[in-house]
Amino acid sequence: MDIKIHRGSLLHFPRTTNNPAANYQYFNDGVLVTKNGVISHIGDAKDFFSITVNQQLLNNGGVVLHKGLLIPGMIDSHAHFPQIEMMASYGKQLLDWLNQYTFPTEKKFANKDYATAQAEFFIRQLFAHGTTTASVFATVHPESVNAFFEVAQSHGARMICGKVLMDRFCPEELRDTALSGYFQSKELIERWHNNGRNMYAITPRFAPTSSEHQLEMAGKLAKEHPDTFIQTHLSENVGEVAWIKELFPEHQDYLEVYEANGLVRERALFGHAIHLSKREYQSLAANGASISFCPSSNLFLGSGLFDIDSVKAHNIGLSIASDVGAGTSLSLFSNQADAYKICQLQSTTIDPFESLYLCTQGAASSMGIEHLVGNLNPGTEADFIELDFMASPIMAQRMLRCTSLAEQLFAMTTLSDDRVVERTYLNGNLVYKKGTNVCGHSSTNGLPYSLNGFM
Ligand code: GUN
Ligand code: FE
Repeated sequence: MDIKIHRGSLLHFPRTTNNPAANYQYFNDGVLVTKNGVISHIGDAKDFFSITVNQQLLNNGGVVLHKGLLIPGMIDSHAHFPQIEMMASYGKQLLDWLNQYTFPTEKKFANKDYATAQAEFFIRQLFAHGTTTASVFATVHPESVNAFFEVAQSHGARMICGKVLMDRFCPEELRDTALSGYFQSKELIERWHNNGRNMYAITPRFAPTSSEHQLEMAGKLAKEHPDTFIQTHLSENVGEVAWIKELFPEHQDYLEVYEANGLVRERALFGHAIHLSKREYQSLAANGASISFCPSSNLFLGSGLFDIDSVKAHNIGLSIASDVGAGTSLSLFSNQADAYKICQLQSTTIDPFESLYLCTQGAASSMGIEHLVGNLNPGTEADFIELDFMASPIMAQRMLRCTSLAEQLFAMTTLSDDRVVERTYLNGNLVYKKGTNVCGHSSTNGLPYSLNGFM
């Protein structure tokens, strides 16, 4: 039996709620016990160590002491692993950005070795940024999905990924067909969905790059495999929405294109969802689908201001996501900071508990995986991170002047980058520690970059 005891400050949201600021659980001096990779206990340290056998463990050095705050590993509900190498590509909005930067990059992922090296880099960077679960777009190549899941499995990470479906308006090398996309996806689902911690997402890139026939076949897959995820893009950019009207004149709005093909259901994750009608909000809510708010991407591509108040008013499942490589940071803290600014531009606000909730329990519950990850409840998988609120001189000075947890959390989030992540644990095991040069992982041999800080 592998038991580990962690002592430190603990913060998480144990339940699904519309009011995270009133429904968090915080222990200033807390204890988190993991047993065979699963959380078995969370509570107050004084109570825990008042029991003699536990006190003996403490005296024998059998307890890991943390200076920083322990929170659940964060969940990034929308990212593209092949795009990490083309983050920060200059000067274009969505449709030109795809043609000029994204499609040429994604062509490289026909090569399995290349895809494996980049999946390794991406997943390790997720850990370094405090993210332990992500819903990830691969490319059109099945090899890129195999590469991603093989690497995720080698780390024991809970990950979601899918082969991009795309049969038009893209380079020939990135094109599948309605039928090949269906059969390749089906094979990948059978191979990877619920294989270890991996889960599959049916992944039509977005409606413009799929024919009606391909969308119909994606809907068929979704019906045949009702517990898979669906991930795609929705109403991100004004030019894109206008194009949808031209391509699908028979549908009254963007979402209806997906709806007509059975792609709006629980576990369907829609990236962006900025320019929506009332009907579209109502349909997302009624069908139990959820939205990934991608703040840094929306700012970077000039896509528009996400209307969080309408999403909340309609009670639609919501999470905050990086959307790397249109997003400018893999850090979900940095993305929370951008979310706050997007709200400010619309005279609304998002409090620091709410934005953290949208990267942990709120994300998990919008995806239907809160029984697995996203909180520190006993029985869930022991993926958690330690945060260093003193990670930079400016942050340290600011912290000393804060008078509440909310203020500290807000300042840390606003000033943060990957330096706030001190340690990352998966299944109760340390997989990342800031500032070390340890790399014992065999699958990293021969990668074309240097690795710092990974266990
Ligand atoms: N819409 C279709 N494909 C993409 C993509 O790769 N990134 C973003 N941000 N939007 C998209
Ligand atoms: Fe995206």
